[in-house]
Parts: sequence; C-alpha cells; structure tokens
Amino acid sequence: MNLFSHFRPIGLFCILILFMACKDKPNGKPGMEESLVPSLKNTFSYDFFIGAAINGGAINGSDTLALDLIRREFNSITPENIMKWEHIHPFPDKFNFEMPDKYVRLGQKNNMHIVGHTLVWHSQLAEWVAQVNDSASMAGLLTEHITKIVGRYKGKIDSWDVVNEALNEDGSLRESIFKEVLGDHYLELAFRTAAKADPEAQLVYNDYNLTHPEKREGAIRLVKNLQENGVKIDAIGMQGHWNLERPTLEEIETSILAYHKAGVKVLITELDITVLPNPWELEGAEVSQNFEGNKFMNPYPESLPDSVQNQLAERYADIFSLFAKHRDKIDRVTFWGINDGASWLNGWPIKGRTNYPLLFDRNYRPKKAYESIMKLKK
Ligand code: XIL
Repeated sequence: MNLFSHFRPIGLFCILILFMACKDKPNGKPGMEESLVPSLKNTFSYDFFIGAAINGGAINGSDTLALDLIRREFNSITPENIMKWEHIHPFPDKFNFEMPDKYVRLGQKNNMHIVGHTLVWHSQLAEWVAQVNDSASMAGLLTEHITKIVGRYKGKIDSWDVVNEALNEDGSLRESIFKEVLGDHYLELAFRTAAKADPEAQLVYNDYNLTHPEKREGAIRLVKNLQENGVKIDAIGMQGHWNLERPTLEEIETSILAYHKAGVKVLITELDITVLPNPWELEGAEVSQNFEGNKFMNPYPESLPDSVQNQLAERYADIFSLFAKHRDKIDRVTFWGINDGASWLNGWPIKGRTNYPLLFDRNYRPKKAYESIMKLKK
C-alpha cells in the first residue's frame, strides 16, 4: 500500500469540507473564509436570516463597534428609526433620503437581506398628515408616500413592513388617521401600492402581541381579507418584545403554526427580552405608554445578577430551539438592536432604566445568552 492510497480518503474528505464551505448558503452568500467564522448568521445560515435593527450611529459609521458586530454576526438589517414617516417624509414636499440611502448602501456592501421599516404607522408619523381630512387626498398621499419610497429602493430593499400595528388587542382595527379618513380598506391600498412599486419585495404586516389569541385571530382575518381581494401579502412580522416568562413557548408555537396555515411566512421582527419589572404587567410595545419610574422599577442599575443572566440565556435558548424547529416557516429572526446599551428598552415603558434584553452587553461583548444560542447547533 503506497502513501498516496493511504491519504486518499482524507484528501477526499477535505475536498468535501471545502466544497461545503464554499457552497452558497440559502441565506446570504458568505465566502469560504467568512462562513467558517463562528457567528449567529453562520450558525443559523440553513435556518433563517439573523437580523438586527440599526440606528444612525451604525449607519453613518460613527459607532464602529456596532458596525463590526453587524458585519460579523448578522446577515439582515432593519432601520430602527430613519425610515419612519416623521423622518423620511417630514413635510408634504420633502423626503429625506440621505440616511436611508446610506443604510441601503451599507446592506448592499455587506450582501445583506435589507428590510424597510415602516411605510404606514400611526406612530412617529409626521404631524402634517393629521391635517389631511378628505379621502381622495389621503389616498393620493398614501399612494405617493409608498410609491416614492418603495420605488426608490426597488430591487434593493428585500422586505417591507408595509403596515405596522394596525390592530387593537381584541383583534379589531385600531383607530388611526388612515382608518378615520380612508376606512378599513386603507390596508388594501397600502399593500396594493407597495406590490405595484416593487413586485419582487416581500410584503409584511408587522405587530406586537401577535401571540395573544384574539389579536392573532385579528391578524389572520387581516391576511385572509387581503388574500381574498387578490392583494399580495407575504409574511406576518411578530415583533417579539417579550419577557422572561411570556409569551409561553406554546403560545409562540401555536401562533407560528396558525400564520403558516394562513399561507404566509413568519418573521420574528423585533426580538428583545426584557428582564425588568413591568408596571402594569404590560405586554407588547405600545410606544405611547411611557412614564417616569422609581428604584423598584430599576433593580439592576450596575449589572445583571448571574441568576437573571442564566434565566435570560435559558429563555433565549428555548425560543431559538423552537424557531429552529420551525425553520421551514420562519424566514428571519431580527433583534431590536445590537447591544444592551443602545436598546430602546432602557427608555420604555419607563425612562432612564438599565435593561439587558439583547445578546451583546454594554461593551459589545457576547453575553451568556449568545453562547446559549450558539450551543444549540453544536
Ligand atoms: C422604537 C425605537 O426603537 C425607538 O428608538 C423609538 O423612539 C420608538 O420606536 N414597535 C416598532 C418599532 O415597530 O418601530 C419601535 O421602535 C418599537 C415598537
């Protein structure tokens, strides 16, 4: 037996490994070197996109540590604020495209799945919109807003949160300026217009508390209503502003299955897990609910005790194994922020608290929760 035949099986094995590493993954296309680096995006590359909401500091390049993490760990981005109506369309004839353009370039440069957030929402809306009070003008305005923004990023933004938070907790349609002036069919107009402006983009209805039975039924009615009217809707975005106990794994799973059955993809769009007490057992993310707190409400101003750190890690591991189980139904899991220091949950629902809801700490270092998720695939 010569030396070559002895090493042949090992050689073939190495070639196979190299081939696997070079092969394009379904989510993004990491090169060989990049795909070997342990990271969230590589760990879950056969399951779903791993995204993060990013803010102005990352987009304009001043937060270099956040940028490093975004490039290393994530293959999808969502703009935390810069595409909301009050920022992108602050006056009738003024659109601010500077930051959104930078945001999209950042995603393109890094070969990412780029999300647009959000076209139609009652919150962070420009004040002047409230003055539009006849239906023809409002329909014209909505059409212009959506056509201009979606059209500008046609073929570049992959997924749009077309309508955000249109439902009440009981599943009925929330009162908003759009509903008041246009009636219930404003949703249809919004989705139709988005589909026309970019037929290839994934169109999403996004909301919080979509694991609550009544609201879930409302979301399913909303999807069915659009489908029955021949309007394209591709996915439900479950925001994922959750806590250590709720929603239960069972509630999450029931919801994933229900949306899948309704014929749409499931996205976890705004994942963060608060570890702080909640003033009124408040769930979800109603942005208008915000009040001053006290020390009881801010128990960990310096650091998070190990016991809670462990609880958070376990909770993240549990929900990620559930997500992985339903990888055929879930397209993307996006965290609402990169690191604890920049999370909106330090300021909501009580201002000035110290919260620990994400996978990276205030020094941009991976937490135990990060390790617990990465371990799932070992
Ligand atoms: C939040 C941002 O994170 C904050 O910076 C901003 O002050 C308020 O909005 N649901 C959504 C997100 O769809 O856009 C919200 O983002 C959080 C709740």
